[in-house]
Amino acid sequence: MNAPLPVEVLKQHLIDPEICIRCNTCEETCPVDAITHDSNNYVVDPDICNGCMACVPPCPTGSIDNWRLVVRAQAYSVQDQLGWEELPKETSLPADADAAPAPAQAADAQAAAAMPAPAMVAGAAVPPWSAAHPYVNLYTHKTPITATVVGNYRVTGADTESDIHHIVLDFGEQPFPVLEGQSIGILPPGTDAQGRPHHARQYSLASPRDGERAGYNNLSLTVKRVTQDHGGAAAHGVCSNYLCDLARNDTVQVIGPFGHTFLMPNHPRANLIMICTGTGSAPMRAMTERSRRLIGTNEIGKLMLFFGARTERELPYFGPLMKLPRDFIDINLALSREAGQPKRYVQDLIRERAGQVRELLADRNTCIYVCGLKGMEVGVLDALREVMMQAGEDWSILHDVLRREGRLHFETY
Ligand code: A2P
Repeated sequence: MNAPLPVEVLKQHLIDPEICIRCNTCEETCPVDAITHDSNNYVVDPDICNGCMACVPPCPTGSIDNWRLVVRAQAYSVQDQLGWEELPKETSLPADADAAPAPAQAADAQAAAAMPAPAMVAGAAVPPWSAAHPYVNLYTHKTPITATVVGNYRVTGADTESDIHHIVLDFGEQPFPVLEGQSIGILPPGTDAQGRPHHARQYSLASPRDGERAGYNNLSLTVKRVTQDHGGAAAHGVCSNYLCDLARNDTVQVIGPFGHTFLMPNHPRANLIMICTGTGSAPMRAMTERSRRLIGTNEIGKLMLFFGARTERELPYFGPLMKLPRDFIDINLALSREAGQPKRYVQDLIRERAGQVRELLADRNTCIYVCGLKGMEVGVLDALREVMMQAGEDWSILHDVLRREGRLHFETY
């Protein structure tokens, strides 16, 4: 007599729609394209996910790290997940279920062999060893915190297309501890085309841990008013327009903080190489200001900044940046549309400053941060590879060390 076949169990990977901030990091990270989304949710396809975990460390909220034991034949489909407002409750498995759950396709030896190896993620999944411990997810979609606008002004030339604002939010007596490199979510008021409340939009902090104004419970954001999509077609950015139009004393619903890896080192004389474009300057401003407040102590190391913008007048914070002491920060501006000047990107300047970049990279106290346009990521990695190759050094070995030691971080969009 044949024994009945055991019911196969799947450890199904799910994303918590109540915590997810729809930042797209998981979809970009997944090496096998198992993650997809619609206007409601980010979801994992159970037929593709191999449980490789590549998406878990980069997720700023932890919403990605949800698993349910299900009978494989009854796994939640992509369609099911797209309709969810919350995760389903855990259910018990039938008695005849196979005790050893298989994470998606990796359970099938043949299928696993056919899977592409997980792609190497460019940045580190861990913070630098000396980073301070961050608080994350103190406030969620269900329990946001109210902040008051105490400042909102433009930080780019009034005659330019780039309408970028510096917005200061105050939390009063309510706890909202943050670190440089972290981000927060803003819940814009109103509903989307389907009548659902808007999802949160994520913004990096532009201020250091002790406040935009030192000693105050406030923080700042750098927000570009979105009037076009990436292809240049007219588009109205729901949250960016809401934020850029806020007046003093208006209130804003905030969630977060988020981020546990893109954090600055906290030990004396650590060096920072900061590479950014446009509003990607926010975390660099936060780290620079944190360091500036330590001038006069023997805490700070070397700071080297590569900052890309169309023109000087479209470079956020140009005036205050240029006032910083030259022996405190080595500033390299890459301007792409300045009249009478050749087009330059940050990666061009990294090549031009190869000697200094190599010197800093040779020091284990150096951390690199890259924030801004997605397209910059490949360009910056290529430039760093070339800089090392020129000196006969193997970038792939250093790249691996930088990732392992939490010394190379990307935040691109
Ligand atoms: P470009 O003039 O070619 O658009 P933005 O103002 O759109 O936020 O862009 C900030 C800066 O980043 C601009 O100077 C822009 O140049 C530049 N940029 C665009 N694409 C890349 C890329 N792939 N790598 C580096 N910089 C880029």
